Amino acid sequence: MTSASQRFALVTGGTRGIGAAIARRLAHDGYRVAVTYHGNDAAAQVFTRDTGIRAYKWDAADFTACQAGVHQAETDAGQPLDILVNNAGVTRDVTLHKMTPEQWRTVLEDDLFACFNMSRAVIEGLRARGWGRIVNIASINGQKGQFGQTNYSAAKAGVIGFSKALALESARKGITVNAVAPGYTATEMLASMDARVLQGIVAQIPLGRLAQPDEIAHAVAFLVHEQSGFITGATLSINGGQYLA
Ligand code: CAA
Repeated sequence: MTSASQRFALVTGGTRGIGAAIARRLAHDGYRVAVTYHGNDAAAQVFTRDTGIRAYKWDAADFTACQAGVHQAETDAGQPLDILVNNAGVTRDVTLHKMTPEQWRTVLEDDLFACFNMSRAVIEGLRARGWGRIVNIASINGQKGQFGQTNYSAAKAGVIGFSKALALESARKGITVNAVAPGYTATEMLASMDARVLQGIVAQIPLGRLAQPDEIAHAVAFLVHEQSGFITGATLSINGGQYLA
């Protein structure tokens, strides 16, 4: 059995929110970890200063940038990637009758196409080496739908289907592919929501509170673990009982 310290993990969107919690947790568990981010240089600097985890800036929605970025991260680490966590994502909440093509496209590209781009950049290497873990961060709203999120719900439902199909293709190569579907989690992503709308949503959560990012990271740590090798194609819901898929 290979120990965690020999495995190299990359977390997209890993300098803030759920992604940062995942990166910190994997580093704590002994993995070598790198993260990507796209926009917020200041947050990335603070994250790297606090954690010592290297942050790479590229757009996960850009296929070529993912190829080059993965190559760079592997070169810098002096070892190939073993674990990919596709976490990067955005929202552009608005009802469909007001949605612009740009709001649709941005969410599909950042939340779903990025999963393809990043997985495509690592999959040949994982297959050749015969071991790998891919965890894709989906959402409760990809499972149940959400008013104001036709774009996000479509992208996250796509992430779940993508994970299942890639799990089937990868099973014989020692690679597991799973999705984690968080419910409403206390991160900056919720900051753009109307406070009363959010209050109404929390009222529908049987546990009566938001998830903490660490609680999502815990599930990712479980799925990438050496002993989780028989879990593939699964969608792990972590939503305080809000939606029982
Ligand atoms: N169900 C049914 N009807 C609803 C509704 C709902 N959930 N929410 C609003 N409506 C109704 C309103 O009452 C209103 O009806 P009237 O015109 O009869 O008064 C009508 O729909 C229009 O509502 P708004 O004026 O609020 O519509 P809007 O276009 O201005 O705002 C919205 C829509 C901004 C999307 C707002 O509804 C909203 O913020 N919804 C929540 C979206 C959400 O949950 N986002 C999650 C972000 S976090 C995340 O995505 C992470 C994750 O993975 C969980």
